[in-house]
Amino acid sequence: MRSLIDILELSTEEIDELLKTAEDIIANPAKYSEKCKGKKLATLFFEPSTRTRLSFEAAMYELGGNVISMASAASSSASKGESIADTAKVISCYADIMAMRHPKEGAPLVASMNSTIPVINAGDGGHNHPTQTLADLLTIYREKGRLNNLTVGFCGDLKFGRTVHSLIAALSRYTGIKFILISPVELKVPSYIKKDIIVKNGIQYVQTTDLESVMPELDILYMTRVQKERFFNEEDYLRLKDSYILTPEKLSNAKKDLAILHPLPRVNEIAVAIDDDPRACYFKQVYNGKIMRMSLILKLLEEANK
Ligand code: CP
Repeated sequence: MRSLIDILELSTEEIDELLKTAEDIIANPAKYSEKCKGKKLATLFFEPSTRTRLSFEAAMYELGGNVISMASAASSSASKGESIADTAKVISCYADIMAMRHPKEGAPLVASMNSTIPVINAGDGGHNHPTQTLADLLTIYREKGRLNNLTVGFCGDLKFGRTVHSLIAALSRYTGIKFILISPVELKVPSYIKKDIIVKNGIQYVQTTDLESVMPELDILYMTRVQKERFFNEEDYLRLKDSYILTPEKLSNAKKDLAILHPLPRVNEIAVAIDDDPRACYFKQVYNGKIMRMSLILKLLEEANK
């Protein structure tokens, strides 16, 4: 049974296919409106979410399917001590596919090992968030017309930001990619991401604490929030939370065709004044997330039914 736990489980050819289907869904939504008739998606969210859970649910409804949902750990039998493995076995009796978010790294993987239906990782701790990466890739592709020959700046919490880790992994397979990793020293990209992905793939990269000095180079600026929920003490969070605040002034030397992405939620790291700048792509990214989740649900259900 094929699940999606890590973005690297999809080949670049499969990502191309998912992008192609996404473009077709955007162009011909009616063609897809009954593709999942009679199918059920279960969304199991042990950690808060607005976009991921609701976009999965909207995606399934737009495919003509149905949804059963668990919006918090507190409202489920996890609060009585039920294991992830048992939960996965139970949900397999109710649904055709499930999307799971969990604060513990590896929880969706454990679910997939105990499930008879496809499991989609909807974010596991500070580890991975593959469907956000699918949203990011569609956004980059639609804005720039390519996924290669790009200088991509990641800015903010690169240590705990799971969306950063998954997007770095995905982009490392394309040619002509350069990463500029902008973060406070305490929130640098984990060494396993640097060693096992960036260096291993021979990707050019620069690490800096200074956003403004690298701004003119960037084709993509991927802003992130400092992940309060992953900090061990509040003092460190308060010291680091406003390390980077993107304002219109800071964009004065940016490229005219820069694309500004952010997985959202935004806290303080992009001034609201930037929302009207044509380079701001983060709300398009939200829409693209729903479309790519439709594309992924179709693919995994089709493979499950073979
Ligand atoms: N980008 C993202 O994962 O948002 P939510 O936490 O609201 O799902």
